[in-house]
Amino acid sequence: MAFGLFKKKKKETKENIPSGFLKLKVNKVVKETADAVSIHFEQPEDGKIFYKAGQYFTIMVNINGKDERRSYSLCSSPYTDELPAVGVKRVEGGLVSNYLNSEVKAGDELLVVPPMGNFTTEFTTANDRHLVLFGGGSGITPLISIAKSALSQEPNTKVTLVYANRDEDSIIFKSEIESLSANEQFEVKHVLESIPAGWNGFSGRISQPLIEQVLASVDVTKIECFTCGPAPMMDVVLDSLAVLGVDSSRVHKESFVSTKLEENKKESAEELVAREVTVVLDDEEYKFTVNPDESILEKGLDEGLNLPFSCQSGLCTSCRGKCLSGKVKMDESEGLTEAELEEGFVLPCVAHPLTDDVKIEIG
Ligand SMILES: Cc1cc2nc3c(=O)[nH]c(=O)nc-3n(C[C@H](O)[C@H](O)[C@H](O)COP(=O)(O)OP(=O)(O)OC[C@H]3O[C@@H](n4cnc5c(N)ncnc54)[C@H](O)[C@@H]3O)c2cc1C
Ligand code: FES
Repeated sequence: MAFGLFKKKKKETKENIPSGFLKLKVNKVVKETADAVSIHFEQPEDGKIFYKAGQYFTIMVNINGKDERRSYSLCSSPYTDELPAVGVKRVEGGLVSNYLNSEVKAGDELLVVPPMGNFTTEFTTANDRHLVLFGGGSGITPLISIAKSALSQEPNTKVTLVYANRDEDSIIFKSEIESLSANEQFEVKHVLESIPAGWNGFSGRISQPLIEQVLASVDVTKIECFTCGPAPMMDVVLDSLAVLGVDSSRVHKESFVSTKLEENKKESAEELVAREVTVVLDDEEYKFTVNPDESILEKGLDEGLNLPFSCQSGLCTSCRGKCLSGKVKMDESEGLTEAELEEGFVLPCVAHPLTDDVKIEIG
């Protein structure tokens, strides 16, 4: 697991920083739209933060006396931006997104887990590819990091960003995207549900005909696609690219929210029984019994183990472990690739034991 920062028990360092976290000072907060900000952090004095374009920070804030963790993708590029920054869009009724939009200001310090995530790619000057980025709303955040990184590192690569929003005022990073357009390797196709007078971009939603039109003159063998946005949009993108013959290994998807978690949780609770599991953390074994209405992560945290986690929805893979024996049922597995599933990786935040011999090694 990243940086080996997690230890058993909720230890705190002498500055009251929980194990696995960094305290980062906010350099500035930029209002990107009426309901989205970017939060820019100063680099720590004792060592620069390294990250890959497309990765995310886990931010922990205390709201109403409770520690809340959420994942936020970096919108900065490690190649072109001095300061690491995340983009946060308000979710209606959402606890942390509204707190970060309303309360955080320059000079504040936030607890952050160093960057993680596999929604990324290697950038090399030898690459000659066509990166096609499909984003919706806040899904632009990791995509703009990937776009800036490719443009700075890959002189032979083209980047096409297809970005869907409700209306023109909802376009996050609008001026930054416009400035990228000065580079002839880059083009943006905005798609708006509600168009202003004189609009000459696309209207409506991202659809198969729209994707076919955008990619009509693109060499399919050179396409590498990254998509991040609402689930229905990403489904259309995946289906359309399959029809166009783009190999699925060249299509990467990042989900911010699970569409099936709650329903699957209810189903699991009905069919499971309480079973003991063994968790291996930092080479030490811990045994505890998991009830049908809780996940292995939830019970482990109740037991006082300092298990890594962020989204608690089976999306971000912060909690990832390898199932060494037994079988588990996962309510969501979106965050894991087919290869990881085949290798036996599981996500304890959404996993329940199906047999009595479940043993999971965290990391
Ligand atoms: C890997 C990863 C990267 C992420 N990157 C970003 C990012 O760069 N920018 C960003 O703004 N968010 C990002 N998110 C989403 C973010 O982590 C939070 O889930 C989101 O801000 C909502 O948290 P909240 O506390 O405000 O809402 P909560 O109080 O947790 O939820 C309130 C309600 O809103 C629903 N909900 C939660 N998230 C969404 C959503 N995105 N859209 C619609 N409904 C939702 C919940 O199901 C719940 O019903 C990312 C998530 C993951 C897993
Ligand atoms: S905490 Fe995000 S996948 Fe488990």
